[in-house]
Order: sequence, then structure tokens, then C-alpha cells
Amino acid sequence: MLNELALNPQNVLLITDANVDIEVMKDAVVKSKINCGEINTLFFGPASKEDFPELQLKIETGHPEDVEIPEEAYELIKDTDVLMVHFCPVPAKLIEKAEHLKLIMTNRGGVEHIDVEAATSRNIPVVNCIRNADSVGEFLIGLMIDLTRDITLSNNLLQAGKWKREYYNSSIQKTLGNSKVGLIGMGNIGCVVAKKLLALGVHTMVYDEFVTYESLVKKGLGDLEYTTDLDYLLGTADIVSLHLRYVPATEKWFKLEHFQKMRKDAYFINSARGGILDYDALVKALDMGLIKGAALDVFDKEPLGEDYPLLHRENVLLTSHLAGTTLDSIALSPYILARDIDEIIEKGVTDRIVNFKKITIE
Ligand SMILES: NC(=O)c1ccc[n+]([C@@H]2O[C@H](COP(=O)([O-])OP(=O)(O)OC[C@H]3O[C@@H](n4cnc5c(N)ncnc54)[C@H](O)[C@@H]3O)[C@@H](O)[C@H]2O)c1
Repeated sequence: MLNELALNPQNVLLITDANVDIEVMKDAVVKSKINCGEINTLFFGPASKEDFPELQLKIETGHPEDVEIPEEAYELIKDTDVLMVHFCPVPAKLIEKAEHLKLIMTNRGGVEHIDVEAATSRNIPVVNCIRNADSVGEFLIGLMIDLTRDITLSNNLLQAGKWKREYYNSSIQKTLGNSKVGLIGMGNIGCVVAKKLLALGVHTMVYDEFVTYESLVKKGLGDLEYTTDLDYLLGTADIVSLHLRYVPATEKWFKLEHFQKMRKDAYFINSARGGILDYDALVKALDMGLIKGAALDVFDKEPLGEDYPLLHRENVLLTSHLAGTTLDSIALSPYILARDIDEIIEKGVTDRIVNFKKITIE
């Protein structure tokens, strides 16, 4: 079925949005192993990137049917063989109209916007794109060092004309190499962060309900400390960092009881999604001195209002959902996706197919 994509001309439908240039999407698909016939293009959502976050949150926390997609898609999909989208939802009612669809691709990691079940019931493979794990991983290491060594804090004071060498955490300061970092969630990003930490000689502890130590060993991560005891990780780590996906089961997953199990001189980081953390509990934990400090790249409400309770605290480092936004991770992500598609077509690589276990690939 997938070999056919390279053999005969395929009608391609590309639906982009303000985050990814349509010419990049087109170039990536034309240069891929897919034998492109007619290529149709559509644009989804607001024209400006600045207006996108609200829609993004709605898509990530809702269902593919919740957001309107370009009306022309319902007509064009009838003759489409290959569909590539960025954030544009692919609801069941679109998949139902597709008579020849052989492949759905998205050049983002999450697939909340695609009705994967509907695609599976039609035996259509869905392929996503692991595009920004490195971008997030590097940012995370930066947050860890900044938070524990007061880089931004010192900069802000110096810029305001104040020379200060003692900070709220000076008495416990140590190098990252002498710290224990606990990662919760060992998917794409957790694994990349672990690899970078191990390379820096950091004692790295990990907890993931659904990942075995053996599978991590196969990924070359045998040197980390794997535990199935979350309380042990929370009570041991100097830095605890969350890397779970935001799904109904992880809604407000990290709570006050978790902060209560952390060391009082430990730091907490969330760069995954706002929905997985109880932010009121974090505010309480900071107010009660249950933890030393926190770094956050994601929030329960984005953008933050002027009265957001985590503002104006010296032990809190905030960034505006920046971890995954390097040029190579979003704007050029269609090329990363195209590389994966080529591997699927050429080498029969299947671990990039989201619903592989449920469909038949010839
Ligand atoms: N800040 C940013 O700019 C940015 C960029 C990209 C991704 N992210 C976020 O980073 C997070 C991780 O992304 P990913 O691609 O690694 O996701 P992933 O789906 O590959 O990994 C998530 C991991 O969490 C584990 N998990 C699920 N429930 C769990 C539980 N109850 N306890 C322990 N582990 C559990 C899963 O087994 C899986 O291994 C996501 O929330 C994603 O949205 C943030």
C-alpha cells in the first residue's frame, strides 16, 4: 500500500497555517519519495502567528470536530491520496468523504487534531513528526542551569543597576553535575533530555508508568536510574521535571500531594503542558516553602494576565512557551516529516506510524 505512493502519481492536499509556509510544505513533499501528481493547497486558521495560541489550545484540549476547517477541504478530499496538515483538524467527517486517501501526515508531534480512530477504521496510516524534542531538550538543560544558578535573576538585577552576589538559594547552590535530576515521562522528549543529561554526567532518575527499563536500555539509556516508585523519585531528586502528554488521564496530574513529597531544597520544572499541573498547588507549594523554586515554560492560561500568581517571585523562572520553537523544529518541520515518510516507503520503517499496530500495511 505504501510502496504505491512512490510508484504512481498521487493527488496531494496540503493544509498549512500561520506557523508553516506553504512553499516549505510543498517543497518537502515534492522532494520526498512520494510521486506527486496534482498538489492542492489550503490555509487554516488566523493569518498571524500571534493570533494562533488560543486556537491551538482549543485544538489540543478538544476534539477534531470542535474547530471549523476550510470548507473546500470537504470537496478536495474526495480525490486526495495523500493529506498533509500542520494544526488543521482532520475530523471523522472529513475522513468519511475521502475515497482514495492512503496516508495522513502531520508535521507536528501531537495528533489530538486528527481522528486517528476514524483513520484506523479506514485502514489509513497516520504519521506524525518528532520535530522539536532536541529543541525542548536543549531548552530544558538551559532552564535547569538558569534556575539553580540564578542567571536570569542576576541579569535582571544588574540591568536595573543592582550588583548582588547572594540569592535566595545561595546556601544550597551546586553544579548540575553533582545534582540528581528526576524526569517524569520518558517519551520522545523525556528520552532526549535524559540523553543530554547523561552526556553531561548528571545522575538522571526516570519514572514512566508505561515504559520499561529494557526499552530505555535499547535506546542507549542504560546508565540512568529507572524507578517504578514515584515517591522515591520525588523524595530524592534535586530537580523534578514533567514530560507527560496532556490527555484526560493526565489532567492536573501533578498535585499538592506530589509537592509535599519533594525535598524542600528541590526545584520543579514544567515545560510539557499547562493542563498536566495543578497550578494552584504549585502556588501553595511555593508559598508554603515545600520546594525551593520552579521554572515554567507552559501555563494553565496562555498568555498570562498581569495578575498571574506566579509573577514577581525571585524563585520562579518563566518563559513564554518557547522550548520547542526553533526554526528547524517548526518552520522547517515538513522536511523532517518528509524524511520519515521516505524511510517508511524505502525501508519499511513502521515505528513512525501512529496507528501501525491497528492497521494492515502491505
Ligand atoms: N514547551 C514546548 O514548547 C513543548 C514542545 C513540544 C512538546 N511539548 C510537550 O512535552 C510533552 C512530552 O512530549 P513527548 O513528545 O515526549 O510525548 P510522548 O507522548 O512521546 O511521551 C509522553 C510520555 O509520558 C508517559 N506517561 C503518560 N502517562 C503517564 C503517567 N501517568 N505517569 C508516568 N508517565 C506517563 C507516556 O508513557 C510517554 O512515555 C508533551 O506534553 C508535549 O506537548 C512541549
